[in-house]
Amino acid sequence: MIILKKIDEVRAQVKEWKKQGLTVGLVPTMGYLHEGHQSLIKKSVEQNDRTVVSVFVNPIQFGPNEDLESYPRDLEADAKLCEATGADIIFNPEPEEMYADGFVSFINMTGLPNALCGLTRPIHFKGVCTVVGKLFNIVTPDRAYFGQKDAQQLAIIMRMVKDLNFDIEIVGCPIIREADGLAKSSRNIYLTAEERKAAVVLSKAVKLGQQMIADGEREAAKIVGAMKELISAEPLATIDYVEMVNMDTMQSIEKAEGHVLCAMAVKFGKARLIDNFIEEL
Ligand code: PAJ
Repeated sequence: MIILKKIDEVRAQVKEWKKQGLTVGLVPTMGYLHEGHQSLIKKSVEQNDRTVVSVFVNPIQFGPNEDLESYPRDLEADAKLCEATGADIIFNPEPEEMYADGFVSFINMTGLPNALCGLTRPIHFKGVCTVVGKLFNIVTPDRAYFGQKDAQQLAIIMRMVKDLNFDIEIVGCPIIREADGLAKSSRNIYLTAEERKAAVVLSKAVKLGQQMIADGEREAAKIVGAMKELISAEPLATIDYVEMVNMDTMQSIEKAEGHVLCAMAVKFGKARLIDNFIEEL
């Protein structure tokens, strides 16, 4: 496995592979890789002849008061994980390589970003779409892998690929969790020991919502209400949102029907954690 820092080097390698008729999978990440990322890499290695993992803390998707500076980084550990999982290239550009002086072109989606996380993170998805669009053009993969952990991001990327005719199959992968249920996240390291314990309430709320649906409840307000009540009983948790929307449009729904996303963002001290479940009803 090799680590490449330059766009031209990645293009040259991918061209070589394509000449040989090999398929290419891309796993975009911001590094500090854990088993959640690893599950995406595994899937790509299974489904493609070659796998590129990008490790890039994308400055333009962080708001002015967000954690760009403190976002955890450990390229050495990331390289070990990628190598052990069968990846072929880590693409790890410097910000200047991705955003040269005078950079002014962005992918700005309407509609889908104006919900859930997009409401408190107004420039976030513009930054995500722009960097993912750039990575798609640099790597030209056959398939790209995204986690359902970031369900709104997954929905937005799927819509972007459809709208802008990227010839890439987007593969959504299930949420990987810690033994006690907490969704794995690079940001979990921000949690104190007490907050870490308290954060289990998120996956408990997911289970509660899923159970209510399994028991036949379809009223979004009732399901979301019960989940909020459970989370609010945890003194260290501050709810940003708990909402039920259509997974493809991000529009609020009153009844749990069709492609349903029930998503939440909750703060524990410095950490803002997200979790969700998706149902086809
Ligand atoms: P990052 O947060 O590093 O996540 C990279 C990918 O890993 C995303 O598709 C995310 O959904 C997935 N992932 C993270 N935790 C997961 C878990 N517990 N289970 C399954 N998948 C998980 O998301 C980003 O980076 C960035 O926004 C990016 C797409 C790279 C653009 O900069």
